[in-house]
Parts: sequence; structure tokens; C-alpha cells
Amino acid sequence: MNFVGAHIISVDQFDRAAADRVFEVADKMQPYAMRNRITRVLQGAILSNMFFEPSTRTRVSFGSAFNLLGGEVRETTEAKSSSLAKGESLYDTARVLSGYSDVIVMRHPDAGSVAKFAEASRVPVINGGDGPNEHPSQALLDLYTMRTEIAAQGQSIDGLSIALIGDLRYGRAVHSLCKLLCLYDNIRLHLISPQELALPGDIVALLKIAGHEVRQYTDMAEGIGGVDILYVTRTQEERFPSQQEADRYRGLFRLNQAIYTQNCAPNTVIMHPLPRDSRAQAQELDDDLNQNPNLAIFRQTDNGMLIRMALFALVLDVVDQVDNFAQPVTWFTDKRHG
Ligand code: NCD
Repeated sequence: MNFVGAHIISVDQFDRAAADRVFEVADKMQPYAMRNRITRVLQGAILSNMFFEPSTRTRVSFGSAFNLLGGEVRETTEAKSSSLAKGESLYDTARVLSGYSDVIVMRHPDAGSVAKFAEASRVPVINGGDGPNEHPSQALLDLYTMRTEIAAQGQSIDGLSIALIGDLRYGRAVHSLCKLLCLYDNIRLHLISPQELALPGDIVALLKIAGHEVRQYTDMAEGIGGVDILYVTRTQEERFPSQQEADRYRGLFRLNQAIYTQNCAPNTVIMHPLPRDSRAQAQELDDDLNQNPNLAIFRQTDNGMLIRMALFALVLDVVDQVDNFAQPVTWFTDKRHG
């Protein structure tokens, strides 16, 4: 895969070498993300961060990643504060914005919208999530996290067993992750969801074609035993036809320390793309797991910064120049991982 000037729309664009390349560049970003030193390699470059759906992590980490490389960020966070609210097409918005910026990150509620936007853009576009469809940077950071977490246990992605828990129907993070896992060998997947929120059939088919073993469960305790990684997700309430329908699924699966201790091997890694729904009726990932050393959710968000820095460096072709623009940090900093 040639990253230079490319749009990053779907994990379908990646082969294993391309994913490895992103991970290799992400490793290189560590000293900058940890504020051991700074770099100005993207000084003068402008990112347009267009988020037409709620976002904390993806929006702020893409923005901060660009800042950490020395670039400037312009944000539009609501469709109603942009001309899309006046009936402007994605085509026109893309033509205009790409004249104002060097790269664009876009999140939009409609599947396929970011690809359509990218077709009209004169600069690279990175998909920050298009409806229930895809979330490629999340899948890359999830895989990078899995790799790092289980490397500590002497394992690799090949041969891994993973339980995916929750709303597998609408969860775009899960969709992109599953497709990316098809690049690896011999994975066992436990798909745990209510029947109505099962992983779409086309993605299950892809997993099987890749030679992975797929087992489906509606009972969480049964499905979480004997796996290396638990990947918990939130019910994607905003994607349901009505709130009433979404309410039916709230709180059906709740992972807490007691259930974990009872059913899982002691070093089972716990992940979640976040946000976790911490309202009393939901709590798919209980706060009582916060002190569990296997809870990787905040290492996962930290890794998001590395992956997003890597994507910008690759797409804007500055990977080999990052260190040439390095400077010492001038302020007090004591950032730790974890
Ligand atoms: C995810 C998303 O927006 O798809 N969040 C994120 O970007 N980390 C998952 C979610 O919202 O549940």
C-alpha cells in the first residue's frame, strides 16, 4: 500500500505489511507522545477536523496528534454550524475545505459518506467513523494494543482468541476490527451479543473465509471463558430506529470484577473502544475493574495518539523527517503510560 497522499477510508485498503508499517511508525512516535521531545515536522500544515457526530477521543486525539507533529488544527464539530445545514453537498464541502487544508479527518453519521467526500477532496481524507460502517483508525489502534498487551505474555496476534461483547450489529469499531483480523491466522472469535445485535453476516463470512473459528453466544459468562482478550462494546443507541428499542438492550451484558474472576484466566486483557456507558442502567464495563492491571482501556486510548500520528506522518510523507525537526521539551512533564 502506498500511503503518500492516500485517503484512509476502510481497513480493506490494508494488507498485513501496511498494518505493520503503521505499527512501526507508531512505535517511532512514542517519545513525542510521551513529551520526551517535540517535533515541528508539520509546521505550517493545517488539519480540518470535521466531526458531524459526537466524539471525544477520536476528535481530540486526531487533533492533538497533528499538533504533536507541529501542525495546526481547524475544527468543525456540528453539521448545524457548517454549511451542510444550508443544504450544501458533501461534494462542495469537500472541494472547499480541501482548498483550506492539507489533510481532513471526517466523522459522519451516514455509511459511505466519508468515501463520497474523499472523492471530491483534493487532499487526503481519513475516516473518523462513517455511521455503522467503519472506523479504521480505531481498528488499527485496537490491533496495536492487542499486539502490545499480549506480546508481554509472549504471544502474537496469530493464534489469539478474542471475545467481542455487546452491540456487534451497529458497532463500527468491531466491524473494522474484524476485517483487520482477517489479515492474521488462526484466530478464535467468541461473538457475544443478543441475537438481534449479532455481527452482520457478511463480516462473519469474511472471518470464516480467513480460516478463523467463530462461535456465537448469547450468554456472556459462557462466552468469556478461555479467551486471551475481552473486547467490550457499548450499545450504539444512536443507531437504533427508536430509543424505546435501544432501551431493551441496555445493561444486558455487564462485565465486573466478580464475573471476570469467576470466568476468566487471571491475565485476560480487557479492552473497550470507549466511551463506556457508565449510567447505572448500562455499565457494560464496571468501574470496579479500574484497578485491574489487565484493564487496557486507557493504554488503548494512549495508543490512539501514536496510531494517528503515524497515519498523518505516512499520508503526508514525513516519516523520515520527524526526528530531524526534533527539539527538547521546555516545560515540566512527567507523563507515564497507563
Ligand atoms: C467508538 C465509535 O465512535 O465508533 N468510539 C470511538 O471512536 N472510540 C465506539 C462507540 O462510540 O461506542
